[in-house]
Amino acid sequence: MAAVPGAQMQGSGDHAQTVANHYNRLEESGLEQRSRSRIFYLRNFNNWIKSVLIARTLEKLRAKDPQKTVSVLDLCSGKGGDLLKWKKGNIDYLVCADIAATSVEQSESRYKENLQRENNRLYGAEFIVADCTKDRLKEKYRHRGQSFDLVSCHFSFHYCFESYAQALVMLRNVSECLRVGGYFIGTTPNSNELVRRLRNSKGNTFGNEVYSITFPQEDKTNFPLFGAMYNFNLEGVVDCPEFLVYFPVLERLAARFGLKLIKKQAFAEYFKDNVGHRESLTLLSAMQALEPFPSVEGTEPMSNKAEDYKFAQELLSSLSESQSHDQRRPPRIGTLSQAEWDAATIYLIFVFEKVEDVSLASIPVAGAKSSDEASNVNRQGGGDGSST
Ligand SMILES: C[S@@+](CC[C@H](N)C(=O)[O-])C[C@H]1O[C@@H](n2cnc3c(N)ncnc32)[C@H](O)[C@@H]1O
Repeated sequence: MAAVPGAQMQGSGDHAQTVANHYNRLEESGLEQRSRSRIFYLRNFNNWIKSVLIARTLEKLRAKDPQKTVSVLDLCSGKGGDLLKWKKGNIDYLVCADIAATSVEQSESRYKENLQRENNRLYGAEFIVADCTKDRLKEKYRHRGQSFDLVSCHFSFHYCFESYAQALVMLRNVSECLRVGGYFIGTTPNSNELVRRLRNSKGNTFGNEVYSITFPQEDKTNFPLFGAMYNFNLEGVVDCPEFLVYFPVLERLAARFGLKLIKKQAFAEYFKDNVGHRESLTLLSAMQALEPFPSVEGTEPMSNKAEDYKFAQELLSSLSESQSHDQRRPPRIGTLSQAEWDAATIYLIFVFEKVEDVSLASIPVAGAKSSDEASNVNRQGGGDGSST
């Protein structure tokens, strides 16, 4: 990926309101409706990745200090899709922040229902409506001086790469209340993979029947480091402007906030590395994160195209050849249709550790839009130093 010297914004104007309106309008679908969705397994698969990442990070925190109470900041928390993960993770306190007021309301009432169901034996929580890329969250916490062990940001971090100023505010929000030794984890589209797919496509759009990505420009070689906008559409769930996150720049900016990258891995590799782990495997089945192949009697496959299951069919055939099976019970494996797998493998996971407290006074967050720093990053950020 190359940088365009001096170019800050490719998208036109401020997209935060568009994004907030989109998520506010989005209906929360019930289990019945979700199970009929074309991306039922993809959504479950993405949730499984988040669950494993959260569980693994909490394990790591507790390995350092088993007795420690755990506080979590969930940035861009949405409708509360991770509330149960925090319960399973046995945390003590949660702050959720999101720009979409309706989502924040929904997550708060979901939390209150859980609290009632658990007879008040649940972590404490607060819910904040805020633009995490513009507002200082520290000024909004119920408890002044709140500090966190974990900051979590799923399928949302890319919104802050709309501009240099927004990326700085986001990272300040991550860093300033995270204690040294705490972690910042997240899931976000892998810009290298997006650009690779764009370059392999004929026009400026690529995708399949479950997702599509459209870049507004014809130029496939030059992208600004901030504001490199594209439109992302995921069947019935997302239809929004998003921004490429150029990882070497994120790494450098994060370092200025005392955050050190300790892991970055594409979803496909993260899945392979974790699927053998006993608890993750149990979770995979409990969360229905893969589609049974061949389909269970009386159910239809998610896709009616045979080529969507080519990989599964080949794997099944090789298993059948290498093992002797009870012929009355043909083997069944778990898979994702090719279209869903292609959508899942856009993403990567990341883990940063806060390694030092830094003086934020030296980072000109408020005036960042016009600062020289942004163009310094632009000039130095060319070339693709990222491996995923
Ligand atoms: C794809 S959803 C992910 C929600 C949740 N993190 C999850 O994994 O289920 C993206 C979320 O980011 C939120 N969001 C987008 N831009 C934001 C911003 N600038 N500040 C706070 N939240 C934002 C949206 O309102 C939406 O809830």
